[in-house]
Amino acid sequence: MKKNSMIKNSSFSLISTKKIIQMNNIWTSYDSKIFVLKGINLSIDRGTNYAIVGQSGSGKSTLLKLMNGMMLSSKGTIKIDYVMPDMNDKKFKKMMHTIGYIPQSLGLIKNITVLENILIGALPRLSKIQSFFKRFPEHEIQEAKRILKLVALSGKENRKVYMLSGGEKRRVAIARALMQKPTILLADEIVSELDHVTAHEIMDLIADAQKRMNLTAIMVHHDLQIALEYADRVAVIKEGKKILEIGVEGETIVDFQTGDMSAEEIMEMYSDDSQK
Ligand SMILES: Nc1ncnc2c1ncn2[C@@H]1O[C@H](COP(=O)(O)OP(=O)(O)OP(=O)(O)O)[C@@H](O)[C@H]1O
Ligand SMILES: [Mg+2]
Repeated sequence: MKKNSMIKNSSFSLISTKKIIQMNNIWTSYDSKIFVLKGINLSIDRGTNYAIVGQSGSGKSTLLKLMNGMMLSSKGTIKIDYVMPDMNDKKFKKMMHTIGYIPQSLGLIKNITVLENILIGALPRLSKIQSFFKRFPEHEIQEAKRILKLVALSGKENRKVYMLSGGEKRRVAIARALMQKPTILLADEIVSELDHVTAHEIMDLIADAQKRMNLTAIMVHHDLQIALEYADRVAVIKEGKKILEIGVEGETIVDFQTGDMSAEEIMEMYSDDSQK
């Protein structure tokens, strides 16, 4: 029996890549002298949760900045859904609106309300005039309120952001990113510095949004433990190099970059982290 009847008619009009992000031999430098990323190769499957962990200064935030076009690599190629991330490229500029980026500093506007911050995610969909006067159509306001509920902030829509707790601020940043109707969510250490319970609440929230929206989530974490709990794949970065890529299947840690580290070294790294 034929598997795909479309082949006969050869009437394909769309192509989709399973690897939504591909990085090939990426080298990056801020000052053209020292490379902060050195030969990174990675590919991320659409709809998965991919985590990046590593010590401070290892290059995690830089990796995310390359994925949303804020930085360009010095060498190597990056493709996001076939498009090279470059703010000067029209095709990428359009795509950028569907990449929800939550920087390490969250990037919220502290003296405006929760709802106003969330609505910022809808700005790219507004006309120039609507955008200039921040005149949001009713359906966008309703959408913002729906997302507000999703992130469990109902009743706080009119509160100024500076009055919120750390966990609540993170919920607002997630809501603003979801308001973009993203296909990719980049989150830089969104649960670091939070207590265990709140960190898990925030991670559950993202996992839930991911299922609802078929989102690819790429998240930087400080600890390996929480990364392995939620991610399909975890890349470990050390001094600008990807030294390991692992995932969990049942009770086993699966090594997808076999050869670079011994089994003992990997288990040691995991047990160091789980003792925290
Ligand atoms: N704007 C910048 N100009 C020059 N060097 C930078 C800049 N931003 C980062 N770096 C350097 O690049 C390296 C990687 O930084 P990056 O912010 O990616 O690390 P990180 O892994 O995210 O660290 P952290 O866990 O502390 O956030 C560091 O040595 C840092 O000092
Ligand atoms: Mg960082």
